[in-house]
Amino acid sequence: MNGVNTVSSSVVSTTNKSKAGTNTFCISVIGATGAVGREVIQLLEKRNFPVSQLRLFCSERSAGEKFQFRGQTLVARTVERETLVGSDYAILCADATTARSLAPMLAELNIVAVDNSSAFRTDPAVALVVPEINGELLKSKPILVANPNCTTIVSLMVAAPLHRVAQLERMTACSYQAVSGAGLAGMHELESQARAWAADEKIACQLFSRPILFNVFPHNSPRLADGSNEEEYKLIRESRKILAHEHLRVSATCVRVPTLRAHAVALHLEFTNAISPAQAMDILARAPGVRVVDESNGDQPADPQMASGLDEVLVSRIRVDHGGTPGKSLALWVVGDQLLKGAALNAVQIVELLIAA
Ligand SMILES: NC(=O)c1ccc[n+]([C@@H]2O[C@H](COP(=O)([O-])OP(=O)(O)OC[C@H]3O[C@@H](n4cnc5c(N)ncnc54)[C@H](OP(=O)(O)O)[C@@H]3O)[C@@H](O)[C@H]2O)c1
Repeated sequence: MNGVNTVSSSVVSTTNKSKAGTNTFCISVIGATGAVGREVIQLLEKRNFPVSQLRLFCSERSAGEKFQFRGQTLVARTVERETLVGSDYAILCADATTARSLAPMLAELNIVAVDNSSAFRTDPAVALVVPEINGELLKSKPILVANPNCTTIVSLMVAAPLHRVAQLERMTACSYQAVSGAGLAGMHELESQARAWAADEKIACQLFSRPILFNVFPHNSPRLADGSNEEEYKLIRESRKILAHEHLRVSATCVRVPTLRAHAVALHLEFTNAISPAQAMDILARAPGVRVVDESNGDQPADPQMASGLDEVLVSRIRVDHGGTPGKSLALWVVGDQLLKGAALNAVQIVELLIAA
């Protein structure tokens, strides 16, 4: 097909069947040149995803950028209708405006889309999915699935297994969010400020309105009428939707910190039913996609460097919340790689479940 980036014939299957007889799929990654898209490409290879053809898309800005996939060189192109035809799944890793503009065409072409942006997350007609929590929504094989906000995924990976047992009433989440949450440009900003500081040069601010080096500040998303910022509002609305718990009380304070990747969240949870730290530790030790870092074994509590590159969300400091209802309140420290479980990995897992459904 003209204009479509393809892997070599050793990977491309014209019959849509691999040699082993299992189905293989044409996958389009839209926003392949960004922080999340790059992780998606690596995950498809690492997880031995059944790809018949991989197509990479970006804006005009990065068109022509080359990627390696299973030993082949792929070139990222701008999105055109004819270059999408024949795709089975599209993993959207671009902004919300781009997602909104492409969704009708993807649906018309019968391409199942998993969108990382905020465009469709709160649309009641669109499933908002974390496979370990509400993966059953994929059994109906929706044509469009929304991937939740990264801080929400990281928080709920730990809150949801406890909710299932003790019924969550209130969640207070204070986040410490890495600069890569703002995309590749966020990482470049912190790195260039660090280099400038080391060279005794002036620190330039391009993406964020003030220095992120040696600083923390409230999340840089737009401020809403009630004084929340958009990130906090996402955490509130998306948590309720994913847990199917409309009346869940959520308090959120989202903060940007000078780490490169992996978001940390101080979680305070209040439950209807009694739950102890020991019970919580036992539940979380068995929760898929969660790893308990147990300080009583002499381990350091989790931190973003420890969590970077890991599929699992790390939880440590599981303790009584002395400010909550006695016997029904817990405080926890949660850290997860928001580029992986908070975005790319969750999206790839959704496609894997859709294929299996
Ligand atoms: N970063 C995170 O931790 C994270 C977590 C959860 C969800 N998300 C969401 O995931 C999405 C991607 O985030 P990111 O951090 O990867 O951002 P990013 O690093 O800024 O990458 C954005 C990507 O979108 C592409 N793009 C922009 N306009 C496009 C267009 N018109 N057509 C096709 N591609 C276009 C960019 O291409 P160029 O290279 O050509 O500019 C780039 O590949 C966003 O919606 C974000 O909110 C991000």
